[in-house]
Amino acid sequence: MKYGYFDDNALEYVITTPKTPLPWINYLGNKEFFSLISNTCGGYTFYKDAKLLRLTRYRYNNVPYDNNGKYFYIKDNTDSSVWNPGWQPVKAALDSYECRHGLGYSTFTSSKNDVEAKVLTFVPMEDNCEVSQITITNNKGKDAMISLFSYVEWCLWNADDDMKNFQRNLSTGEVEVTDGGSTLYHKTEYRERRNHYAVYSVNAPVDGFDTSRDAFLGAYNGPDSPDVVADGKCTNSVASGWSPIASHQINLQLKPGESKTFIFVLAYVENPEDDKWEAPSVINKKPAIALLSKYKTEDAVAKALAELKSYWKELLSNYHISSKNEKVDRMVNIWNQYQCMVTFNMSRSASYYESGIGRGMGFRDSCQDLLGFVHLIPDRARQRIIDIASTQFQDGSAYHQYQPLTKKGNSDIGSGFNDDPLWLIAGTSAYVRETGDLSILKEMVPFDNDMSVAKTLMGHLKCSFDFTATHKGPHGLPLIGRADWNDCLNLNCFSEHPGESFQTFGPSEGPVAESVFIAGMFVKYGEEYAQLCELLGDQAEADRARDEIKKVYEAAITAGWDGEWFVRAYDAYSHKVGSKECEEGQIYIEPQGFCVLAGIGVKEGLAEKALKSVEERLDTKYGVMILQPAYTKYHLELGEVSSYPPGYKENAGIFCHNNPWVSIAETVLGHGDRAFEIYKKTCPAYIEDISDVHCTEPYVYSQMVAGRDAKFFGQGKNSWLTGTAAWTFVNISQYILGVYPTHKGLSIDPCVPADFGDFEITRKYRDAVYNISVKQNGAQKGIKKLTVNGKEVSGNVIPYEEGVKEYNVVAEMG
Ligand code: BGC
Ligand code: NOJ
Repeated sequence: MKYGYFDDNALEYVITTPKTPLPWINYLGNKEFFSLISNTCGGYTFYKDAKLLRLTRYRYNNVPYDNNGKYFYIKDNTDSSVWNPGWQPVKAALDSYECRHGLGYSTFTSSKNDVEAKVLTFVPMEDNCEVSQITITNNKGKDAMISLFSYVEWCLWNADDDMKNFQRNLSTGEVEVTDGGSTLYHKTEYRERRNHYAVYSVNAPVDGFDTSRDAFLGAYNGPDSPDVVADGKCTNSVASGWSPIASHQINLQLKPGESKTFIFVLAYVENPEDDKWEAPSVINKKPAIALLSKYKTEDAVAKALAELKSYWKELLSNYHISSKNEKVDRMVNIWNQYQCMVTFNMSRSASYYESGIGRGMGFRDSCQDLLGFVHLIPDRARQRIIDIASTQFQDGSAYHQYQPLTKKGNSDIGSGFNDDPLWLIAGTSAYVRETGDLSILKEMVPFDNDMSVAKTLMGHLKCSFDFTATHKGPHGLPLIGRADWNDCLNLNCFSEHPGESFQTFGPSEGPVAESVFIAGMFVKYGEEYAQLCELLGDQAEADRARDEIKKVYEAAITAGWDGEWFVRAYDAYSHKVGSKECEEGQIYIEPQGFCVLAGIGVKEGLAEKALKSVEERLDTKYGVMILQPAYTKYHLELGEVSSYPPGYKENAGIFCHNNPWVSIAETVLGHGDRAFEIYKKTCPAYIEDISDVHCTEPYVYSQMVAGRDAKFFGQGKNSWLTGTAAWTFVNISQYILGVYPTHKGLSIDPCVPADFGDFEITRKYRDAVYNISVKQNGAQKGIKKLTVNGKEVSGNVIPYEEGVKEYNVVAEMG
């Protein structure tokens, strides 16, 4: 069952009912000011950091779901009916409803009793604000008397403190009101340690306002039944402490067929430390007024929206496919790249499942997010790499997370996740292959943000490489530490008490527990490190790296091999994890995917066997499960992985993130049919028809789909912020469709199913455009002829030549 449809021409997903199985959300904002908005107008807004600079309040864990948003109430004064364009929070039945989530904007078009409301909401490219334009149209045959109320509830900036520290926070709230109530300022804590405030303003005179939540709602009501809306009369309340809000009232008399439009702007403003006040206790409003003045007219809004749309159009033109497979085209050209931008911006910080008050930016997460983003805006990727590397320690280990506002490592989680260092090589290599910019490798980058101990970025990568090379266990495999990519494989943790964090309990170092997955990473990214060394002319270091890689490769195909598949790890007693010897959890997906994509066991014939075992033991109709058989008991020596009920999350869920690893691994072996089959199983556009089972948004990936052992097999969870976005884009764009950036130029080596058909790709790479036409000839892999600008080239790589702006490429498979 579907709850909407894709409108590919408009680059939108159209939701036709507010009653989706879960809130289906969108992200507004591309740089620093962000809003989340659901298909019922729920959501929240923040500047840079969802924890530290939260503008509007959200209610976690609430019933109904998705409580609090930026709401408009429409009151029809003839019959006193009240409704919202997004249906929530009043939930009055609507005569029509449509929500369109586009790239950085959403629209809502709804009607009731012959009154139509159209809301457009977005964050403009250049300003720290959200613009919401609402148009109300009277389609009755007679005059309509309408009262429009706006409503946002302020968060007292630190979202974590805001939901805990009531003894203080109920006394700190402060506001200012200007323009007769059209402009409402939120200035809590501005007097002392903050130089920022927020503002919510409308471009028209109002009939009143409220800034006190209790006055607006009434002490015993929720946003579904505000007293003020019921009374039809706001109270002009000026909040002092308690819960400040911003609400405007506008009374309208509309003739038959008449429309009126209002523009609401929610903004974040900073003042210089020495220019905070315009009078004692009166905030300096100049920058706010300047910003608000930019969005006073419908033309200005239309222009800002057009800018946003052309920005996205241009970005998406960096990789564009035209094939016979509508769903592939839609995901590659629109939604997968869009999700890559969102994961780049958010890491795992703020979604409907990441509260914004927990994790900040993840070291491994953000490094992987770069893989799917670097082709979009390489300059932002460059800065991100430097920021991430700045949270590394001198021994190569790294803070596992950092706060986006401060860019400082989070010491409550600390370090000790032994895969982290190698992901820095992955991200940097992707950037250099994309841009050819070697200067980044020579940038001086601090350790733990301390510039006095800075090294070049290349020096950091050496630390990363050496960390793994010097932290090996009894089998010559890399030590796992607190966990590797699988946060729940906590082999040194041994937690027996509720409430302890599996990730931070127990020692960060264990001298015995080893990871075959990290071995796969070391082989893959060690080689990418060696190539960077060569580019910088350091052959000796490249040779040394390759010697180290050889040792780990050997360990992976011996101690890391279980007979039919790769072992997952060795625990703190040196017992195998993910082996036929185990009672539960005999096979894990991660080492099969990653070792094979790293090339381990290909020439020895192990790779074929490993992937066959994956197909036999882990595959389902909804994707490949992370492990089998699921753990039914808690294994103290394994940690969180066995804490989940069978079929969920890391315990035998379909963890979407590592499905592309297996798909890529299949392309390494030339299995186009199977690679694509795996791609399709978790691909949102391919499972849109089962939205009632899948539940999460059909335009983006979820972190997990419940596995075969789970009661709700096929149900998606944790949509949006997942490494699945980047890895799937890498898989489809670089391996299946086969356009892979190397240091020497783009390589063309597709691996597609036999019936995929011919396809065309436009790829912007460095400063040139590549128009690539692939003639498939029914082949799954292999290029028999590659022609570039009319000349045949040998091999798969289109040699990059500086100055050539256009490459017309014909690749004939066969
Ligand atoms: C989840 C993991 C996640 C980790 C983050 C665990 O509970 O299962 O998916 O990476 O928490 O701390
Ligand atoms: C989600 C985390 O964000 C990611 O870092 C981790 O690799 C996966 N869960 C698997 O545990």
